[in-house]
Amino acid sequence: MCGITGYIGYDEAAPILIRALKKLEYRGYDSAGVAVIDGEKIFVRKMKGRIELLDKSLLEAPLSGTVGIGHTRWATHGEPSDINSHPHTDSEGRIAIVHNGIIENYVKLKQWLQSRGVVFRSDTDTEVIVHIINYFYRASGGAMLDAVLETLKLLNGSYALAILSSDYPDRIIAARKDNPLVAGLGKNGVFIASDIPALLEHTRDVIFLNDGEVAVLYRDHIELRGGDGEALKRETTHIDWDIDSAEKGGYPHFMLKEIFEQPKAMSDALGPRLKKDASANAIIDFDEVKLDERWTQARRIVITACGTAYHAGIIGKYAFERLARVPVEVDIASEYRYRDPVFDRNDVVIVISQSGETADTLAAMRLAKQNGAQVFAITNAPGSTLSREADAVIYTYAGPEIGVASTKAFTTQVMCVYLLALELGRLRGCVSAPAYRRYTAALSAIPNQARQILDKKELLQRFAARHFNKAKVFFMGRQFDYPVSMESALKLKEISYTHSEAFAAGELKHGPIALVDSSTLVAAIATQRALFEKIASNIREVTSRGAASLVITWQGVDSFDTVSDEVFTLPETEGCLSPLLSVIPSQLFAYYCAVQRGNDPDKPRNLAKSVTVE
Ligand code: M6R
Repeated sequence: MCGITGYIGYDEAAPILIRALKKLEYRGYDSAGVAVIDGEKIFVRKMKGRIELLDKSLLEAPLSGTVGIGHTRWATHGEPSDINSHPHTDSEGRIAIVHNGIIENYVKLKQWLQSRGVVFRSDTDTEVIVHIINYFYRASGGAMLDAVLETLKLLNGSYALAILSSDYPDRIIAARKDNPLVAGLGKNGVFIASDIPALLEHTRDVIFLNDGEVAVLYRDHIELRGGDGEALKRETTHIDWDIDSAEKGGYPHFMLKEIFEQPKAMSDALGPRLKKDASANAIIDFDEVKLDERWTQARRIVITACGTAYHAGIIGKYAFERLARVPVEVDIASEYRYRDPVFDRNDVVIVISQSGETADTLAAMRLAKQNGAQVFAITNAPGSTLSREADAVIYTYAGPEIGVASTKAFTTQVMCVYLLALELGRLRGCVSAPAYRRYTAALSAIPNQARQILDKKELLQRFAARHFNKAKVFFMGRQFDYPVSMESALKLKEISYTHSEAFAAGELKHGPIALVDSSTLVAAIATQRALFEKIASNIREVTSRGAASLVITWQGVDSFDTVSDEVFTLPETEGCLSPLLSVIPSQLFAYYCAVQRGNDPDKPRNLAKSVTVE
């Protein structure tokens, strides 16, 4: 998730841009850059690495000028490098842009531009935007705003943009769709940024851009336009947050913010892969991985990972076996690397890691490669060791996750796994055309359904307020609900420090029930309709022994109303896709329990975000 800043005013722009970028550091980044107009020319300075490096370079060789844009890049297309860093310019260096988001149709646009002789310098999706603006700019005889509006009409995907033109040094043009932008009028000029903290030093009266809107910033005023260029009016909003809470976008913790970012993150993971074929039917297509014979003929898929990523792997097992009828083995990476597993050159090996730096996961990947396997990585971190060493990489596009407890990284991993399983199922003839249509439609609906769950967060907050002090919390489920139970228990123990475990509900009588008493809360994930009766019996078994209970199930299901103390309902999706939704209440429950217990959910004791040692 990149950070954007822009300034047009009466002071030197570069130091202002750098200070603003530092306020956006929390978003995560791997490179940084600025572009400043000095007289009639745009000067760009950008580099891989920390903002401090860029700052140092600017102190040694300053860029002068009172108009500029800045960027921190979180790589999605193309590795973190100087050349892929933003700003990007057109071929003549007269237009510069910074971009946050993903342009889903960039391959087509790039081919079209290349056919017109445009030479690309970077591997980014962003670079197409500046070349298209230039194309329309030339075609329109120099109408910059029109050129931007025409360009936006061609872009599929998400963007927040800030655009400089050396022909118009009196303005910055900004635009947004599905990525935040906020503008502010200060005493010494006008500012634009991805988030409020970057503006607070200069002003607390801000204008939030809505999707589809364009802002033209001048030194002393801001013009707001709709997608067709029509003038819009907007009241300013006064910000009275303290700076720390502003960096969390108004959320008290990064974890809560990241839980709430899941609809967008899942949509970002889905969008670039769910395309339309020539007959406008939905089709799953990974630009980065072709599901060739290696996949379709595979006799086995092996998935390996740690922690939350391992739980995504177990969901993968259920999904590949259900949808593509391929046997799957899932292994905890620290076990896989030492247990002398059996290798088969025809295996497909999938390694899942949000950070791409987990020591055990990397060792498991290397072991598989040494033994002849081709390794496919699912990760959120371009430029990570995993992404560099794996044979092919699928990015989850979750954006940076700051909270130690993985939330949006998990749901986007699961989304990628489903896309793979479903497409493989189609290719292997295991998923019929009508079923494929049903599943792809269901996947498209998930982000919105996730929003509906988040809207009911208070129910879980109240439930957590009643039960946060339970000595033991157990999660149970069957089929797809079992790995969700495992992830739910991990979330709760990580941040609330409550003793929490998960088991397959069918195992209840084989041991766990011995622990159940009135100090226990048992939460059942119940989304598999064929097994409702069995789960209802399991709940009766625990409540009759004094346990409190919670059931997470579909809206409209009444099978648990008289059985459980509390029922939390979800908008219904296909049973085999349920983990994408059913994990969200557990994440919220864990979060609220941690807060009730006075813990910092973002920095749980003894845990690190990235476990780079054994
Ligand atoms: O970066 P990775 O996905 O490889 O990390 C694996 C685990 O360390 C990680 O999922 C851990 O379990 C999280 N703290 C879970 O919230």
